[in-house]
Formats: sequence, C-alpha cells, structure tokens
Amino acid sequence: MLTHEDNEILTRVGRGTPAGELFRRYWLPACLSSEVAEADGPPARVRLLGEELVAFRDSDGRVGVVEERCPHRGASLFYGRNEECGLRCVYHGWKFDTSGQCVDQRNERRSFADRIQVAAYPTHESGGIVWTYLGPPGTMTPFRDFGTESLPASEWVANKEYVDCNWAQSLDGDVDTAHISTLHMFDAADQLPDDGTDRPGYNSNLASVRFWLHDPKPLIDVEDEWYGFRYAGIRRTPNGHRHARISAYVFPFTTMIGFVPFTTSQIFVAPCDDGSAWRYMFETKPRRQHSPLGGPPFTTAPGYPFEMNPLQGIVPRDFTRANDYGIDRAAQKGVSYTGIHHFRTQDYMATETAGKIYDRTREHLGSTDLAVSRFHQLVISAAKGLAEGRQPPALGGTGDFTGIRGAEKILEEDEDWRVLGTDADPVVAGLLDPERRAALAGADD
Ligand code: FES
Ligand SMILES: [Fe+2]
Repeated sequence: MLTHEDNEILTRVGRGTPAGELFRRYWLPACLSSEVAEADGPPARVRLLGEELVAFRDSDGRVGVVEERCPHRGASLFYGRNEECGLRCVYHGWKFDTSGQCVDQRNERRSFADRIQVAAYPTHESGGIVWTYLGPPGTMTPFRDFGTESLPASEWVANKEYVDCNWAQSLDGDVDTAHISTLHMFDAADQLPDDGTDRPGYNSNLASVRFWLHDPKPLIDVEDEWYGFRYAGIRRTPNGHRHARISAYVFPFTTMIGFVPFTTSQIFVAPCDDGSAWRYMFETKPRRQHSPLGGPPFTTAPGYPFEMNPLQGIVPRDFTRANDYGIDRAAQKGVSYTGIHHFRTQDYMATETAGKIYDRTREHLGSTDLAVSRFHQLVISAAKGLAEGRQPPALGGTGDFTGIRGAEKILEEDEDWRVLGTDADPVVAGLLDPERRAALAGADD
C-alpha cells in the first residue's frame, strides 16, 4: 500500500513533477525507427511524458523530435510536408530542421526565421528504437547501451504496444513473476509430461510451464543492484527441486524477464502521459546470446492455446476494455484461467482494469509482491531525492548495461541464484564474444 502522496509521486510524469523530472534525466524511447523509416517520409506522432511531439527523418536520414505545435500560430507539424532537410508546416509554410531551427518562412515578406525555433530534443537510434532526451541539456548523460549499439538491423526485432493505463501499473506486471501461474495459465499445462529436465540444472522452457502451474506462490527474493534490482521467484517443482526465475529491473522503466538459460531481451515502458504508455520490446534475432539449453520457448508447449504478439512494429490492439478483451467464457471453463485468447491481452486486462491510475492506498500487498513494492520504493525515493538535489541512479555512463540479464534454472543444492545470468555465470561467459571476455578479464586484473 502507498500513501496518496507517494502514489502521486510514482505515477505523475508531467513536467515539474518529481517522477516526471526523474524520467527527464534518462534517454527515452520516442518511437520505433520503422515509424519514420523513410528519409522525407511521413512524420510520426510522439506523445511522451505529457509532451506532444513529432518525429521525422530528414533528407539526410537524421531523425528529429520536435514539439508538435508550430511556433507561428500553433498548427500541428504532424501534418507537415517533410522535404529538403526540414519539416514544413502546411498552414503558412514555416519550415524547421531537425535541430528545431526555422529555416524558411514561406509567407513572410521579411524573414525573421533566424530568430524562430521550435523546441527540439536530441535523438539517438539504437536497436530499432528512436531514443530522445527531454531533460535539461546540462544534465544529459551518455546513451545507455543495453547491447544494441553494435548490432546490425538483421539481428534485432523491436515492437511496441499501447497500454491504456499508468506506466507504473504496466511495469508492476513485469516485476511480478507470480502472476504467470494464474493469469497466463492454461488447463492443458496439467497434461504436460515430465520431459526429464525436472532436476538440478537447466530445465526445458516447456518444463517451466509445469513449474508455474505446480507452484503459484513462489518465494520472492530481491537483491538490490547499482542499476535497480534483480529478483528471483523460487518455486518448488513437481520433483521437489527449487526452480529460480530471475528478472532484472533497471531504473526507471526497464525490465529483462527470465528465460532458460538467460535472456537479454528488454522491455521499456515509456509513459505517454499519466494515464497511458507505450511498451517497447527489444529482442535479438535469433536470441543469439542464448545457448540451446532450454530448447524451444514455452509457447511451443503442446496444447498452448494463446496467440502471441507480432515481433516487429506497432502491436495492434484488437481487444480492449470496450469489447471486454474478447473474453470467451466457455474457454474460461476449460481452456485457461482468463478465457482471453491473446497472451498480452491477458496482461492488458489485468493492468488496465485497475483504472487509468490505480489508487494504491487501496491495495493489499502480500509475500509475492516484494519486487513490486521494491520497484515503487526505489522510484519514489529517487524522485524525491532528485527534487532534493541528489543524482538519480543508473544514469548513462555509470555502469555496464549490457551485462544485465534475466535467467532461469533449477538450482543445485547450495547454488546462489544471484550468479545466474551475470558475466560470472559459466553459461553466459561461454557465449560472450571474445572482445567482451577480454575486457572483463582486464577489469579483473
Ligand atoms: S501555423 Fe505554421 S506556418 Fe503558420
Ligand atoms: Fe504477464
């Protein structure tokens, strides 16, 4: 439970609010690169932290993110004509380059373009996402590379999906491994045979489904890290072993969710405003740092009944509150807990129906909500700290973000889950590229 005041701090992201200012210290996803794929192509609307912006790619391939309102008389630049290194407002023809500078005034008898600028923000493209920095220029830190900087476009996929609720509510579901045992569970999971991997070591991803079904009340163990925290959900398996599913939370809006043997996939929850957000997902294609341990993903389990998201582009929202998320009451009796056929729609249903901004003075957290409450505490304390002049954690340049991973394994007798998925994990170390291995060896000297 939070006080009303703390819930306000956690959820409000407008300019001048504590969390709004916190977010403005980090590079944020503005849109997918594919939304502004072509030079001189159509611009994209960007709503971020309550700001109405437009992204466009100029003739030279540079991406600009500028305020949507034209500084002449306020028409939307989204409808602008993108041509010859600038976006031209089609009301009277003022034109702006990616730095926001007005470079032409089609209607002016005596141009004063040199004195006119539209607010513009720095951009950086990485991993199929256009990132931007909305904070004060003097506090801008380097772009945080989560492992995308060196990857060619053939090796990644990125998508985004809209959630009609506050950003923190959506991220709550990403640091809540317990819900997978219920919200995403299906009846056929009960029939899955023991494939021989329910023993200490790497279980198959398919076997994970059995463990989620078998133990819906995992023990949650949270470990603070310089970037936020990692936590394990530890479940008893049908054979009596301890299965750890480990996810990472990185300040203020990023998670990496457990997978066998480890994962580098990332979710970034970028608030549009207080009541909605875009969830960006980045994955390597194929999951090139994954070893074959674990085998096919759990979605290939026999009898798995749910549809999954497309991997690229903007995920369509065919099922919303307006059509009750497509709930199928017959399927709810014999196919799955939710009767909702689309995996991510199950999450939307759960997080959006708590309200645009959930009133956390009314919640009752229990033992499986430890990571959720740690997430709240950390954001609230960093937001308050920034308001008092303290530097936020995990800014660009403060550490190696490429080494943060989720993981999953059945633990040996005395095995410490904290090692899993880190550079010290033998499975990870074996797959690190030689350059990175050499750099880590150097750091140990
Ligand atoms: S409103 Fe944009 S040019 Fe006049
Ligand atoms: Fe979920």
